Amino acid sequence: MILEKIKKKKYDIQDIVTLLKAEGEYLKLIYNEADKLRQSIFGDDIYLRGIIEFSNYCTINCDYCGIRCENTKVSRYRISDDEILKTCKLMQGYGQTTVVLQSGEDPFYTKEKLGALIERIKKETSLAVTLSTGERSREEYRYLKERGMDRYLLRFETSNIDLFARFHPDSDYEKRIESLNNLKQLNIQTGSGFLIGLPGETYEELAGDMLFCTELDLDMIGAGPFISNPETPLNGQENPFDKEVYFKVIAILRLLNPRAHIPSTTAFDAVDPMGRNKLLQRGANVFMPNATPQKYRADYMLYPGKPCVDESGDDCARCIVARLKMLGRNIGQGPGHSIR
Ligand code: 5AD
Ligand code: FES
Repeated sequence: MILEKIKKKKYDIQDIVTLLKAEGEYLKLIYNEADKLRQSIFGDDIYLRGIIEFSNYCTINCDYCGIRCENTKVSRYRISDDEILKTCKLMQGYGQTTVVLQSGEDPFYTKEKLGALIERIKKETSLAVTLSTGERSREEYRYLKERGMDRYLLRFETSNIDLFARFHPDSDYEKRIESLNNLKQLNIQTGSGFLIGLPGETYEELAGDMLFCTELDLDMIGAGPFISNPETPLNGQENPFDKEVYFKVIAILRLLNPRAHIPSTTAFDAVDPMGRNKLLQRGANVFMPNATPQKYRADYMLYPGKPCVDESGDDCARCIVARLKMLGRNIGQGPGHSIR
């Protein structure tokens, strides 16, 4: 039986494909096992990591992404350090213990600028700081760590070289992986992950992404469904998998990576109004409430239907507290560092 093989770490890619096709009682069992495993490692604690999308400037052109540089329909913005600090202080009041600073690939933010921002956050709040600002050099990662950065998120998006090249005209697969290895070697808590269902993707390729996460031995693993964005070249190209597959991916990732932090990612609420709640019962142990000040949100539409565009940081902060109450979970105390 495959679940036993996973426990003994003796599985292969075909086993994962089989699990991705599970239905009925067997699927229920998978979800149940993932939830039990999450509970046995993290208890009822869900860590809250507020995400501030602080710049939507981007120099590159990932085919799926709404803020790709060729999309002239978005108004570009950068949020000032003062406004970021103000937002961080509000987040703290809601039990969010990490701030995730995310942007496009924006060279305006030099390592010095980001370093100064991190230092200010560290001095004026007790938040852990995660950055998600794209591919940077090893020296920049080293510098940012020195200035207080705790973690870095950089998705590999797909582990299939051909798919990667097809959808990333300005990026190089080998360089992306080298970036991830640099982060790990520098002892920065590293998160990565992938898009579930790029156009033309097969079950085998999806299973390959899942195995690759395990191989990378990540501290955090984030994955969400590809959603076709009409403002991109992938307009009209649909996700090859059905919705249930998206949920299976997260549950199986938990089974494969018992001790990784796995967030219930935003895109799941775009495909199912209860999506993020369901994931918290199927293996995920982290929630990343949107903390971006409301007025910027409409200009960070990576995909259509992105939730919480009309809401404020306060709304999302209260919303997750209510969700956790409904699910009988607690807000994780402390920074929620890697336990690997
Ligand atoms: N659908 C789903 N996710 C997307 N992302 C970017 N564009 C889309 C889309 N159209 C994801 C990428 C990126 C993360 C910040 O958002 O995986 O790493
Ligand atoms: Fe934003 Fe619910 S998480 S309103």
